[in-house]
Amino acid sequence: MKTYALLKTLTGSAICAGGLALGGGSALAEPAIFKGADLKLGEQLIAQGKCTQCHISKVGGDGSAMYKPKGKINEAGLLRGMVEQCNSMLNLQMFPEEVTSVAAVLNRDHYKFK
Ligand code: HEC
Repeated sequence: MKTYALLKTLTGSAICAGGLALGGGSALAEPAIFKGADLKLGEQLIAQGKCTQCHISKVGGDGSAMYKPKGKINEAGLLRGMVEQCNSMLNLQMFPEEVTSVAAVLNRDHYKFK
């Protein structure tokens, strides 16, 4: 993958799907980190980033089976960190506020962390 070298420098961990090394991401347990997030923007970005299309290709259905609130992503900070990793790995070039918006939408729709 072409972006690999760049991503390594960005995150120290190249794989979205792999471990949860949270390069620089905050690991706050409180969705206070989603406060003021622009949910409309998050929805748009999820559609544009083809997040769902790819997830569907992996798990089928509507792709939502990819989101496992009871899995290793078990707090808001990890959720945001995961989105940040996908952002880096896929070279989506989202700004930090946009990553937060995307994570906030996933939290609202799937994870429901408090
Ligand atoms: C090229 C394919 C692909 C794209 C595009 C993609 N993902 Fe993923 N994503 C995956 C795979 C594969 C996993 C499974 C990771 C695992 O189970 O370890 C995953 C897992 C996740 C998870 C963690 C699910 C969980 O609860 O364990 C989140 C959150 C996530 N993706 C968000 C996103 C977002 C947001 C986008 C769009 C900005 C996105 N992904 C785009 C392939 C992709």
